[in-house]
Amino acid sequence: MSKIIIRKIVKSDIDRGFLESLDSLSKASDLDKKNARSILDEILKNPDHVIFVAVRVSQVIGSATLLIERKFIHKGGKVGHIEDVVVSKECQGRGIGEKIIKRALEYAGRHGCYKTILDCDDDVRPFYEKIGFVRHSNGMRYNH
Ligand SMILES: CC(C)(COP(=O)(O)OP(=O)(O)OC[C@H]1O[C@@H](n2cnc3c(N)ncnc32)[C@H](O)[C@@H]1OP(=O)(O)O)[C@@H](O)C(=O)NCCC(=O)NCCS
Repeated sequence: MSKIIIRKIVKSDIDRGFLESLDSLSKASDLDKKNARSILDEILKNPDHVIFVAVRVSQVIGSATLLIERKFIHKGGKVGHIEDVVVSKECQGRGIGEKIIKRALEYAGRHGCYKTILDCDDDVRPFYEKIGFVRHSNGMRYNH
């Protein structure tokens, strides 16, 4: 398999399969590209909202979002939140997901987070446990 690069998202990734790669998590490729670019513009203005992409021969084949939250408790500490972890179906099972998560964790640690948390379904728990996550508390959701 060709070399995989993990890096922060750039605007041209919208035309390099980013939305299509998200489809393996939830349909995103039907989003209008103009709309997608304007969403990404907004995200890129926030240094605490980071999207990491896995790229192989100029095509995005996976990604994860890291949000860094500043708190008053824990001495004004920071918490990392990982969201929207995905690897394109045809590239799964080759260590790419693990590489993306490790990159996000390294970034969160370097930017002062004392912990990083995420929600996941039971079927992907082993994936996160292999990386070092431990089960903690219950995920709760309110539908608006
Ligand atoms: C979950 C997902 C991101 C994992 O990415 P991936 O690139 O396929 O995973 P990796 O190849 O890096 O796997 C790393 C290890 O975790 C294991 N693993 C991966 N997915 C697993 C799963 N669903 N159940 C059990 N183990 C899993 C792998 O076997 C591998 O173990 P090994 O090192 O002993 O071989 C990917 O399967 C995916 O995109 N799934 C659909 C979307 C999704 O469910 N995202 C998670 C939302 S919380």
